[in-house]
Amino acid sequence: MKYVFSAQAMAEIPSETVICFAEQFDKIADKTLVEIDGATAGAVATLLKAKEFTGRAGEAVTLYRPSGFRCRRVVLLGLGDRKKKTADSYRKAMGTASRMTSIMSSGSAAVYFGTQRSESVYQAAVEGYLLGAFRILDYKTGENKRAKHRLNELQFVLAGKANLRRLEKSVRRGAIIAEGQMLARELTLTPSNLLTPELYADKVERLAKENKIQCRVLDQKAIEREKMGAFLSVARGSEAPPRFIVLQYKGGPAGQKPIVLVGKGVTFDSGGISLKPSLDMHEMKQDMAGSAVVVATVITASRLRINRNIVGLAPTAENLPSGHATRPGDIIKSRKGKTVEIINTDAEGRLLLADALDYANKFTPQAVIDIATLTGATKFILGYAGAPILGNNEKLADQIREASKATSERVWELPIWDDFRDQMKSSIADLTNSGGKVAGTAAAAAFLENFIGDWPWAHIDIAYVDLEPKGTPYVPKGATGFGVRLLTELLARWRKV
Ligand code: BES
Ligand code: MN
Ligand code: ZN
Repeated sequence: MKYVFSAQAMAEIPSETVICFAEQFDKIADKTLVEIDGATAGAVATLLKAKEFTGRAGEAVTLYRPSGFRCRRVVLLGLGDRKKKTADSYRKAMGTASRMTSIMSSGSAAVYFGTQRSESVYQAAVEGYLLGAFRILDYKTGENKRAKHRLNELQFVLAGKANLRRLEKSVRRGAIIAEGQMLARELTLTPSNLLTPELYADKVERLAKENKIQCRVLDQKAIEREKMGAFLSVARGSEAPPRFIVLQYKGGPAGQKPIVLVGKGVTFDSGGISLKPSLDMHEMKQDMAGSAVVVATVITASRLRINRNIVGLAPTAENLPSGHATRPGDIIKSRKGKTVEIINTDAEGRLLLADALDYANKFTPQAVIDIATLTGATKFILGYAGAPILGNNEKLADQIREASKATSERVWELPIWDDFRDQMKSSIADLTNSGGKVAGTAAAAAFLENFIGDWPWAHIDIAYVDLEPKGTPYVPKGATGFGVRLLTELLARWRKV
């Protein structure tokens, strides 16, 4: 996509299509609306009277041949109630716009911002457009493979020159962040036959090279040398050997302790010997979403030149049943030395995270954040609407909440109480990997807590927000890439914890 920036009057914009925003209205007072109404022989008034367009969220209309305008059509997008309006209202409006035939078939389009001054609005608008238009055609053939979008130039227009540079900066930043989120989506929806741990690691190595990020991949032997017994116990049942991916982006001064991101990378989770029911099992190709978010966030941070040292860790393995698989009742030894009784081989994510969290100590981190599709129980906590977060540091949780507010990737904190710690004790080993389904999300975090070092830590459970079941304005059905905007924002505004 090519981006162009200018200051000009709406009527002078040379693009084929001009996109404008409208807050909910009951009379035509807004300057932009007055101008469009005037150029269309009162079309806006007619739409208002018929309640066909009143600026409600989700509304969008196309008006043709505005007289005295250089464009061929104007698209009006509703933002909803002025009092409830946020940057996300623009993200949503542009997401809706991205799939309108009138925009998809345009050769060029312009977003008219008038006197809008908010950088987060500029950024959200381009994010919404790119995220809403996201579609993977790689697995289609022939006619089905043809892209519907013709649009390859997006112009951003202000009424005056004063904020042009801020506009350009914010749009470029938004585009990089949306591209990062789309990379996470793309990795996440790649089927498990095309994304074994080996293929995944190869792909990440290539991406790292392209972005000049340091990447090291530990193979089976190296993982054994690290004594990652918990991680290895997950990989045993599969023919595909595990890989442990280490990304290092050094954007900060040499002495600065890194922020370590850890992502669950189970390329397929059948449940292992504790086999899952088959009904939705195909969705378990997404069980590496956390690692995809980590990979995409490190790349995005480097593209934005965020001035922090960042490490990304992605333990990747496939959880399958076989004659080699770990059995329920088996006891394994983690990298840290703690023993775990495997009650349920489907509680595998915490096992590979346990060893990855312990491995994080190598980098003497200033903080560690893990992100994982860890527990099905999140379905009954926040569902598809937001992600539970847990951890050991309120300052870190506060920062995550701030980043969440700014990006509209919603989180809510759950506690780690002794009740949940007790749940994870085993009668025969140090720990059990499953304390049952009661308080499953918090109990899983209580398990992970056993493997952290002396640093602030947060855990983000994205088990349901990683997948959009129906499609929303800027999140088409499928993998969401939830976490890339959140973590990138967190890193960009990072304060010492
Ligand atoms: N990957 C799943 C969690 C999951 C389930 C994500 C459904 C998305 C949708 C995880 O490995 C798992 O199976 N967790 C079990 C743990 C239980 C056996 C203690 C769960 O949540 O049921
Ligand atoms: Mn599982
Ligand atoms: Zn899993």
